Amino acid sequence: MKKFAVIVSILALGTGVAIADPAMDRENLMKSFGKSMGQLAPYAKGEKAYDASAVLAALTTLDENAKKLDVVALFPEGVTGEAASPKIWENFSDFQAHADKFKADVSTAVAAAPADQAALGKQMGAIGANCGGCHELYRIKK
Ligand code: HEC
Repeated sequence: MKKFAVIVSILALGTGVAIADPAMDRENLMKSFGKSMGQLAPYAKGEKAYDASAVLAALTTLDENAKKLDVVALFPEGVTGEAASPKIWENFSDFQAHADKFKADVSTAVAAAPADQAALGKQMGAIGANCGGCHELYRIKK
């Protein structure tokens, strides 16, 4: 049996990617969301001259990453990671609905391709409400 265990652990090492840590994956994904929002903010606030193509590029990256927010795969029951609230698993369908709404609002922003600061501000308000709304309920404040 010992031999079997050794073989299994070697196999597990070999497939490191497949058994990646879901908490780490989702935290990295969340960081990418933060990065995209950080790139967009100066255009929304008028701190940078509006650049529609740079804005669309940042929104497109956010959209691609938002699509990776597969809550079933990334939030296995009880894996609280850094700051995931146990409430996630008490209300999983609501948590999933928050993720779906977020994805839909990001896709809408990409489809609308905001042409000026005001339009981007509106889209970012809608997207940001998803971040804040989900964190309020499901992320433990530190
Ligand atoms: C469906 C719910 C949900 C949505 C939508 C959401 N988040 Fe999160 N976010 C979480 C949860 C839950 C955690 C805690 C995850 C953990 O600690 O494992 C988190 C953690 C984070 C973190 C910390 C990551 C780390 O370093 O540990 C950042 C940054 C973040 N979110 C940014 C964002 C931004 C920006 C948006 C919107 C563009 C967003 N999130 C949308 C649920 C959400």
